[in-house]
Amino acid sequence: MRKDEIIEGEVVDFALPESQGIIRKDGLVIFITGVLPGERCRIRLQKVKRNYALGELVEILEPSPFRQSPRCPHFCEGCGGCRLQNIDYREQVRIKEKNALSTLEHLGRVSLDAVFYEGFFPAPNPFEYRNKMEFNFGYKDGKLLLGLRPLNRYWDLVDLKVCYLMENSLVTRALDFFRRYGRDMNLTGYDPVRKDGVLRSLLLRLSREYKEVVVGLATTSDSLPGEQEMVCALRETLPEVQGLVHITNTSPASALLFEKKRTLWGRDYFFEKVGHVTYKISVESFFQVNSDLCPALYAKAKEYVDLSRGEVVLDLYSGSGGIGLFLADSAKQVIGVEENPRAVEDARFNAELNGIVNFVSLSGRVEKVLPLLPQQKVDVVVVDPPRAGLDRKVVQKIAWISPERLLYVSCNVGTFARDTVLLNEKGYTLKKIAFLDLFPQTPYFETVALFQK
Ligand SMILES: C[S@@+](CC[C@H](N)C(=O)[O-])C[C@H]1O[C@@H](n2cnc3c(N)ncnc32)[C@H](O)[C@@H]1O
Repeated sequence: MRKDEIIEGEVVDFALPESQGIIRKDGLVIFITGVLPGERCRIRLQKVKRNYALGELVEILEPSPFRQSPRCPHFCEGCGGCRLQNIDYREQVRIKEKNALSTLEHLGRVSLDAVFYEGFFPAPNPFEYRNKMEFNFGYKDGKLLLGLRPLNRYWDLVDLKVCYLMENSLVTRALDFFRRYGRDMNLTGYDPVRKDGVLRSLLLRLSREYKEVVVGLATTSDSLPGEQEMVCALRETLPEVQGLVHITNTSPASALLFEKKRTLWGRDYFFEKVGHVTYKISVESFFQVNSDLCPALYAKAKEYVDLSRGEVVLDLYSGSGGIGLFLADSAKQVIGVEENPRAVEDARFNAELNGIVNFVSLSGRVEKVLPLLPQQKVDVVVVDPPRAGLDRKVVQKIAWISPERLLYVSCNVGTFARDTVLLNEKGYTLKKIAFLDLFPQTPYFETVALFQK
């Protein structure tokens, strides 16, 4: 087979997180964007390598019964916020579950017969579920834009009018308000290639329980023109906003960094409730983004660790105390470790707020703090690392601490599977596992797993 050849075939698989359909032909694995499992289609080969190829969709000959019209008009413009909106939600769940189990078997070398697999739990709301969104400003042909980047095009931007990942009535008003503010003030949007421009990003954080919104506006400048007038107008347009924070971010990195932070009005934090625990969360602290499923995630974690009030628990990557505080009423002591100093402050505040006296939060990177911990028997270790998973040295140190049980919460099944192999080598066996769809319309989901020594 060669470049530009037109072939026909059936989509037999779906690769995640790339969200590409797979056709196999003559020993070649062909990846195609925009096709669904089970569809027969005609494609043009764009690139042909020794054992894989990239194809471009020419025509769908037999569409999948699960193909649907995307709800959001920006999906077809290539907005990178969602990748699965053209697939019926039940089918999204089936595709993700298949991918999760196959990753576990092949990358994690897990025999599914030997594990208690509880299932893949769908989200109650496949749209408007996020409590946090970060939109980017941009500048094209002298016009200020505000939206999200297309997939794999960090320099580009889709100017959004709506976004159904978060409560759309809030998003629409916020996007419109800040786009208008920037245009009225003649501010430029940040260009990630030239690394210039003033307005960089708009952060929205929402509490489902208390209906509070905190907004962060990131710029490369230290001041904002007309900020007092802007605050007054914002309070009228978005009365649910409880605080507006100005963030200075001059870093060339694409992530939102809080180099400097000024509260222009109101609070730089909000409150959220998960089960019996109330959390104060600063605008720069992590919190699970799906408020609908977070209670189920924490409840599953609690069920799996099965504490009986006598255990010492180490909660690594503890954020604002999310999981650790939720477990504290069934443990003897919980020790959290977290690198973000504001999240550590939040966690300490949250312990007091909830009258929890057996929780401490240590500040620092897990790799640095673990070797310094005093010799103490630890019964259970909880890890909830970022997407990169566990550092090899962290796995070694956990094995040295030698807890009876290890609870692993992960937002990346690939690194989770890799770490499962490392943990196995250290004598930890995967016993129970469940997946929760915290991120509908996207290829991602959350894993909760129990390992036993
Ligand atoms: C996925 S969040 C988990 C937070 C918490 N378990 C929860 O449920 O809200 C990961 C957290 O790890 C923190 N983090 C990332 N790398 C770290 C490291 N090397 N050491 C300590 N904390 C880290 C981040 O700041 C973030 O708060």
